[in-house]
Parts: sequence; structure tokens; C-alpha cells
Amino acid sequence: MTRIVLISGSLRHDSLNTMAIATIERMLTARPEPAAAVRLAIEELPYYHQSDDESGKRHEAVHAARHLVTASDAVLISTPSYNGLVSGVLKNALDWLSRPWGDSALTDKPVAMLSASTSARGAMEAQSGLRTVLERSGAVLIAAPQVALARADAIATEDGRFTEPATVAALEALVEALLAHLSPEPAAIHGISS
Ligand code: FNR
Repeated sequence: MTRIVLISGSLRHDSLNTMAIATIERMLTARPEPAAAVRLAIEELPYYHQSDDESGKRHEAVHAARHLVTASDAVLISTPSYNGLVSGVLKNALDWLSRPWGDSALTDKPVAMLSASTSARGAMEAQSGLRTVLERSGAVLIAAPQVALARADAIATEDGRFTEPATVAALEALVEALLAHLSPEPAAIHGISS
């Protein structure tokens, strides 16, 4: 079964990004061919410490997070914008995942991203910073569609998930793009007519 690691970049209760992740989690598990959706709890990671990294000191939470990602087929991240960039706790997690040097857990890992905020831009600006971090970490970014949930606090929800049809459709399109990247349709066979 396809395994997708889901990451919300916000720790806030009632986080809009966590709601986006919860919506996607339900989509993945409710498909006719369900995917396994596993959340990475980034708040459990210690502060990144380069001395620990270089000395090989083992942090169980870091080891578990790296294993979760390396054992997965893909990662999907929803980020808020904190002063134009991703949250510190998300950057901290990505820095851990990117190390040790030369052994990033994100190497060649397909990663899809979205953002959500109360603003009119939907935290789109944070996605450019996130893209830079992911590219340097060796991830393969799903370039389209770009999904930024603007004024997301006004979008209808139920049980902690978005229900407004246009939002659900946008999230579905992102999920489909990620899954299509993992299992491309077989190339059309030319020259055969029915
Ligand atoms: C914000 N917020 C914010 N929003 C935005 O669109 N652009 C920004 O630069 C910022 N900057 C910012 C800095 C800090 C420190 C905080 C705490 C908040 C607002 C933020 O995007 C909004 O609260 C979102 O709802 C946060 O995401 P979650 O927690 O709902 O997922």
C-alpha cells in the first residue's frame, strides 16, 4: 500500500493547516485504493543541534522521524506563513530530516506542498521558502497544482476538516497529482484500434 507522510507546519489548536492535513488524510484513506496516511508529529523533535548531528548522538524522535520518511513513498506538507516563511518548528524538522550530510531522508522523495492562512494570499509566500529548503534537501517537488488556502478561517469545516467544495476539489487535485507521480498511467499503446 502507498504510504504518505503528512506534516502540518502549525502546532496551533484549530490550525487551518492541520485541518487541511486532516482533510487530505481522510481523502487518502477513503479512496477505492486507499493509501496509508501517517502523520509526522514535528513537535516531538528536539531543537536541531549540529554537534549532536556530527557526533552521531541518537535522538529517538529524530531516528523515528527519519525512518517514517525513508519508509514512505511520499510526503505532503501544509505550511503556515510566519513572517513570510515556514514556522520554526517545521524548519527544525526539515533540517533534522536533511541530515546527516549526504544522507538526507528526503533524497529523491516526492513532496507535495500547500499553505493556508487567514490572509488573502493564503501563505503562498511561505511556499517559496519551503521549496528552497526541500530542493536543498534532495526532495522531488510536485510543481502543480499550487494550492494556497486564502482566508481559510472563513472556509466551511466539519469535524476539523474542510467541507467547502472548491477547497475540497483543490486539495483533491493536489493529492491526485502526488499519486499520479507515484504511479504514472501506463503509456498509451499506439497503433492498436478497437
Ligand atoms: C502569522 N500569520 C501570518 N499570515 C500571513 O499570511 N503572512 C504572514 O507573514 C504571517 N505572519 C505570522 C507570524 C506569526 C508569528 C504568526 C503567529 C502568525 C498569521 C498566520 O498565517 C495565521 O495565524 C494562520 O492561521 C496560522 O496557521 P494555522 O495555525 O491556522 O495553521
